[in-house]
Amino acid sequence: MDVPGSKHITVIPNGAALAADIVGVDLSQPLDAATFKAVEAAWHQHLVLRFRDQKLDDPALLAFARRFGELDQAPIHAVGDANEDPYPEITVMSNITVNGVSIGNLGHYEAEWHTDMSYNERCPIGSLLYSLEVPPAGGDTGFSNMYAAFETLPAELKRAIIGKSCKHDSSRNSAGELRKGYKEVTDPREAPGALHPIIRTHPVTRRNALFLGRRRNAYIVGLPLDESEDLLNRLWAHASKPEFAWYQKWKVGDLVMWDNRCTMHRRDAFDPSSRRLMHRTQIKGDRPFFDAASVAA
Ligand code: SIN
Repeated sequence: MDVPGSKHITVIPNGAALAADIVGVDLSQPLDAATFKAVEAAWHQHLVLRFRDQKLDDPALLAFARRFGELDQAPIHAVGDANEDPYPEITVMSNITVNGVSIGNLGHYEAEWHTDMSYNERCPIGSLLYSLEVPPAGGDTGFSNMYAAFETLPAELKRAIIGKSCKHDSSRNSAGELRKGYKEVTDPREAPGALHPIIRTHPVTRRNALFLGRRRNAYIVGLPLDESEDLLNRLWAHASKPEFAWYQKWKVGDLVMWDNRCTMHRRDAFDPSSRRLMHRTQIKGDRPFFDAASVAA
């Protein structure tokens, strides 16, 4: 993609349902306005962008992320961090321990399909994840296109969710760990967390996406619990089809950013004796909404 007045950037779609590589950008330097606009346009088109061979310290990562908007504070952790964090907008994702104390989140576990912080009333519009250390195998991150999942839903499933909202449980993280200060949920109807429309209209592209958040303790408001479970199981069976997904195999220096409004992601487990260290930051967002007029036809 050539944008007048900008440095050249090349966008290379990876041929899967989402994601593209951006080549020709050094994110440790400020991007001029036209180059930034080209990156942003590519993000809206491809949903997930990967920039390889970057050398970013935390201030540089935060400076690039801030071009997209104000940043969120890191989410509530399941474990304590070993270090005082000088950058509250950076979440350390790592299995590394120092003196027996974890320096980050999620450990070496598998993380289930989810959308970041969807249990909040206002959810981040996007997340950026930068790799500092990667294991020799495992720890790949999968991304899934929720526009495509919505657009290919069987008609009766689409009809069943129009106008419906879902509870997004905040008690556990995507590795299934109970967050600090939360109690075990025994009935999804009573779970703590925000309610959001199951069909979500993207405020920039105006396209509709399936918005499921995460499966555990989800509940479709207004349905008997067994009907909610049945509908959620059918929606998840569709949304987690491999044809909507692409997997990132990490190299040190990769920065991957994804649009939380139209994607989900998950992570493979990896050998706990190897090291994985990532820094993540999130761009603040608005309350998810559904534009009913957009599916009237
Ligand atoms: C996450 O943000 O869910 C973690 C992804 C990863 O560690 O690859």
